[in-house]
Amino acid sequence: MKILKIQGGNKLNGKVRIGGAKNSAVALIPAAILCDEVVKFSNVPDISDMDALSDIIKYLNGSYKRKEDDMVYIASSQMQNKEIPEKLTSRLRASYYFMGALLGKFKKAEVCMPGGCTIGSRPIDLHLKGFEKLGAKISYRGDTLVIQADELIGTNIYLDFASVGATINIMLAAVKAKGMTIIENAAKEPEIVNVANFLNLMGAKVYGAGTNIIRINGVDELKSCYCEVIPDRIEAATYIMIGAVLSDDLTVENVIPEHIHALVQKLIEMGVDIQVDEDKVHVTNKNKLKPINVRTLVYPGFPTDMQQIIATLMTQAEGQSTIEETIFENRFLNLYELIKMGAKIKIDGRKAYIDGKTKLYANNITASDLRAAAGLLFAALIAEGETVINNTDYILRGYEKVVEKLEKLGAKLQLIEI
Ligand code: EPZ
Repeated sequence: MKILKIQGGNKLNGKVRIGGAKNSAVALIPAAILCDEVVKFSNVPDISDMDALSDIIKYLNGSYKRKEDDMVYIASSQMQNKEIPEKLTSRLRASYYFMGALLGKFKKAEVCMPGGCTIGSRPIDLHLKGFEKLGAKISYRGDTLVIQADELIGTNIYLDFASVGATINIMLAAVKAKGMTIIENAAKEPEIVNVANFLNLMGAKVYGAGTNIIRINGVDELKSCYCEVIPDRIEAATYIMIGAVLSDDLTVENVIPEHIHALVQKLIEMGVDIQVDEDKVHVTNKNKLKPINVRTLVYPGFPTDMQQIIATLMTQAEGQSTIEETIFENRFLNLYELIKMGAKIKIDGRKAYIDGKTKLYANNITASDLRAAAGLLFAALIAEGETVINNTDYILRGYEKVVEKLEKLGAKLQLIEI
């Protein structure tokens, strides 16, 4: 297990470059097995989730090679369709994308359930409903899901909730199905567009990604291609919000502005000094921050993944801010750790009330999940004194080179194996 020791209170200035989007890459890598030829990706983030995916690809007798700094090559011509065990699927929830990919490739998938996590139970009923609608039969062997179909036939699938994972998983199962599949009430996140564009680069026929209706015309085979992973909008948001408190002059590079539009609007409402250019954002802490109200929604609404980070920013605003978390049922655990650092927060179900401006004090705290870890790291960078964050392995799952990037800006922190 790793811990982070952070000496807070330092100014953070300069430039930080955003890496590839974790929530794209964790879907693109499984999707690549749909093609028997070598597939190449660039801008693949150097995060531990990629190591977990690489282990699954190699376990299935595929090849996963990272070259230079951010290039990954996937080859699946020798892939064997084996049961993916719990020791591999439990390392990341997105292992469930191998259900859609193996079903799409072999018409059969045996994948151990990924399990829930602290932010919620995170069922996959919508994924499974989509697979069944395509003609698959689902059975259980202990915790392993066995999904198989004689034929995958295109059909209409309505999603009760615009689920990111279900939208992508159904796309993966449908790209080689017979006929047209229509996904209604599809999720519209940028990562879905990234995956759909990748599938089309391989020769699939996916239309409408980024809208709430996605049409997929099944094709017989998919060919080798090269695809770039889009920049990580959550990593970008994290550094931008850190800059709003701790920077006289911070530039966040490799950003797609429309992917962080909801955040930028809320930061403008707070009075943050922010300038958005074509592919970068400039932010300073020169203005006093005003309180705001945030309600998390599906894209293009305010992203739930940014909620745990803006909660820390809200402690530095003068007045009471509120958060309403509508996507996950238990995504406030980080707030209890912020309270241990001096924050004044009341939690009532899915609503949180954050009073500011409060001085944050160093403490020994524990991260409960990836974005909680990011929000607590932010708080530790603000707090005077040395904070210890336990369970720091979480942050390494989604923030590439986070210690190096922060040190380059002037932060004082050490990652320690214990
Ligand atoms: C993706 O999770 C992201 N993960 C999450 O990011 C993100 O918070 C979430 O989308 C929402 O934007 C990846 O992309 C790997 P959902 P996913 O299916 O696909 C319910 C991070 O920190 N639901 O859109 O699991 C579910 O319980 C992570 O990077 C069902 O009920 O999210 C939740 O309440 C955390 N049945 C809501 O929908 C289903 O079959 C949103 O889930 C599927 C989902």
